[in-house]
Amino acid sequence: MKQFEMNQTMTELPKQYFASLVAKVGALVKEGADIINLGQGNPDQPTPAHIVSSLKEAAELPQYHKYPPFRGYPFLKEAVVEYYKREYDVELDPEKEVCILFGGKGGLVEISQCMLNKGDVALVPDPGYPDYWSGVALAGGRMEMMPLKQENAFLPNYNALQEESLKKAKLMFLNYPNNPTGVTAPKEFYDETVAFAKRHDFCVVHDFAYGGIGFDGHKPVSFLQSEGAKDIGIEIYTLSKTYNMAGWRVAFAVGNASVIEMLNLYQDHMYVSLFGAIQQAAATALLSSQTCVEELVKKYEGRRNVLIEGLQSIGWDVTSPSGSFFAWLPCPEGMSSEEFADILLYKAHIAVAPGRGFGESGEGYVRVGLLEDEDRLKEAVDRIRNLKLF
Ligand SMILES: Cc1ncc(COP(=O)(O)O)c(C=O)c1O
Repeated sequence: MKQFEMNQTMTELPKQYFASLVAKVGALVKEGADIINLGQGNPDQPTPAHIVSSLKEAAELPQYHKYPPFRGYPFLKEAVVEYYKREYDVELDPEKEVCILFGGKGGLVEISQCMLNKGDVALVPDPGYPDYWSGVALAGGRMEMMPLKQENAFLPNYNALQEESLKKAKLMFLNYPNNPTGVTAPKEFYDETVAFAKRHDFCVVHDFAYGGIGFDGHKPVSFLQSEGAKDIGIEIYTLSKTYNMAGWRVAFAVGNASVIEMLNLYQDHMYVSLFGAIQQAAATALLSSQTCVEELVKKYEGRRNVLIEGLQSIGWDVTSPSGSFFAWLPCPEGMSSEEFADILLYKAHIAVAPGRGFGESGEGYVRVGLLEDEDRLKEAVDRIRNLKLF
């Protein structure tokens, strides 16, 4: 068989760092090991029943068996508008300021295709979600990393960015509640971001994937709550985490009308739109009682408490996440994140994600998902205690 060659862009895509972790875990599971897998970001709970029922009913309707309208059904965009008004007191125009997406990942990759010319700069958080890198690489753009340091509450320090890169910057990615660090951002940070982006004339893309998950009674702030945010950016919201709908592939972008138009135009050329029944179920999720979200947050908070209190009790100096479903834990002195992750995997049968996989500044940490029940997390703490590392 002839081996066809990929084009240059494809060969330059970032390497999938976590593929080797998945392979190592898979091999141990095959040998029969009881692995506590805290290395991934896949919600473990089912989609709430009323959302599944809505899909089932909608799947029977012949109107959804046809092509959906380009750019999605108006009822879903109206539902998004109502959601943002109700949850964040943000006003949106359903036609001009909402774009339906095939998952947040889709929008996060598409935005670079829409806005970057070859050599343009995207400012990217480090550590951060690797799909930003994929989009920038596909567009032939260049990344300028923004280190997120503990001493700065894992927020970027805008003063440290190079003037030269700021001149070439077209985009900046942000993400709070943050994957992987588990921190949330205060409103003042977004206010500062709006002013900074206006001064340097680039577009802010706030990835609000964990917007539904804030702890200790604190609701995460939307970027669009800052005055002027819509002038200078968009927010991408996914139903994957808030409603355990990761497999459904439904999300949306909201904000700056010119950017929303670009995303819609790009999608006109790539797709038609999501299956209508999924759009109906997504509207159901946004418009129905949010008790399921409150229960989910309570569950993650309970797990967080078990894990963090447990780890602190064995002498590991860890900080409690304030949102998302991740904890960001420092490695023992002198150990790289990969070495530490290997020790946990091979000596305690616990899988965690080495921080290095999220960028250079992720070195020295591992990311742990709160995606196993409390008993398993307690068991994980016991296994770590037995390693006598702390
Ligand atoms: C920070 C962050 N952004 C975006 C996404 C994308 O989610 P989805 O494509 O399921 O909407 C994820 C998923 O893990 C994530 O962690």
